[in-house]
Amino acid sequence: MRWHGDSLELLDQRRLPHEESWTHYRDSASVATAIRELVVRGAPAIGVAAAYGIALAARHGEPLDAAFAVLRASRPTAVNLFWALDRMHRVARESGGDAEQLAAAAVAIDREDLVANLSMAALGASEIAAGSGVLTHCNTGALATAGHGTALGVIRTAWQQGRLARVYHTETRPWLQGSRLTAWELKREGIPAHLVADGSGAFLFGRGLVDWLIVGADRIAANGDTANKIGTATLAAAARSFGGKVMVVAPLSTIDFEMANGDAIEIEERHADELLGVSGSRHAPEDTMAFNPVFDVTPARLIDLIVTERGVARPPFTQDLAAMRELCTWKG
Ligand code: MRU
Repeated sequence: MRWHGDSLELLDQRRLPHEESWTHYRDSASVATAIRELVVRGAPAIGVAAAYGIALAARHGEPLDAAFAVLRASRPTAVNLFWALDRMHRVARESGGDAEQLAAAAVAIDREDLVANLSMAALGASEIAAGSGVLTHCNTGALATAGHGTALGVIRTAWQQGRLARVYHTETRPWLQGSRLTAWELKREGIPAHLVADGSGAFLFGRGLVDWLIVGADRIAANGDTANKIGTATLAAAARSFGGKVMVVAPLSTIDFEMANGDAIEIEERHADELLGVSGSRHAPEDTMAFNPVFDVTPARLIDLIVTERGVARPPFTQDLAAMRELCTWKG
């Protein structure tokens, strides 16, 4: 993501890894469409892009109420979107919609996310014993954040520290965030890793190839229940069944303190076409019905650690997470 003051440039994640194509966005509605259509995706990156969408609206004289509304409606599950928009809304109210102040607030959200990722990476990596095997799901790297990544940031740092013997990442059907985006990032970093099918969890943990499942999050409830890419809960259950551990890595902007548990988290359902084929080529017979919820909720009881930029929360998570919230300058 590149901010130019009067436009936002996004790397089109739909085209990776085959093409590195950058597009300029100049208004809030087109940024909202880019979020909805997964040009930019991953919870923290969605929040940062939405903040820049508001900065663009102010810069180009759009009515701000409409800009907030269109961005709020772009995707429902990642709470970072609403967190970033609420923060921008406070700045809009206090500054009377001043374009300079809104741009500065969006840049601050962007920079703070990178700082948070570096802090989480150091904290998470220190929990991993030398010689470990790790498995990750979806894409949680630089593409999904302001830089470095959450779960992939921990893997990146743990690799640099020489702690990792084996790295596996799933395909992440139907949109292939793992085989397209995580594979692309790991290759650029020079980290040797193996792509595995989404259903490999029991095999990998059962054979002792993997010690940790390390994932990001789209929304974490106050008790630690965690919404993340569909398949995460299945992998966490496999980890628990075979003696593996589960680490969730997410900034405090991903924690929804208003939600006591994960039951009420809205789960985005996307078009059936995403499941009926792969990369635009259809393989299911005609008239096949598909159901495509794209996130699931991993119950807190299956999670061993939640790593935020303010520390490592341990079960039962409610107390540790609430204490971290108190350390924030913002309480949104
Ligand atoms: O549908 P996506 O690609 O936006 O889903 C992304 C995920 O589920 C990630 O694991 C999550 O947003 C954390 S990204 C640091």
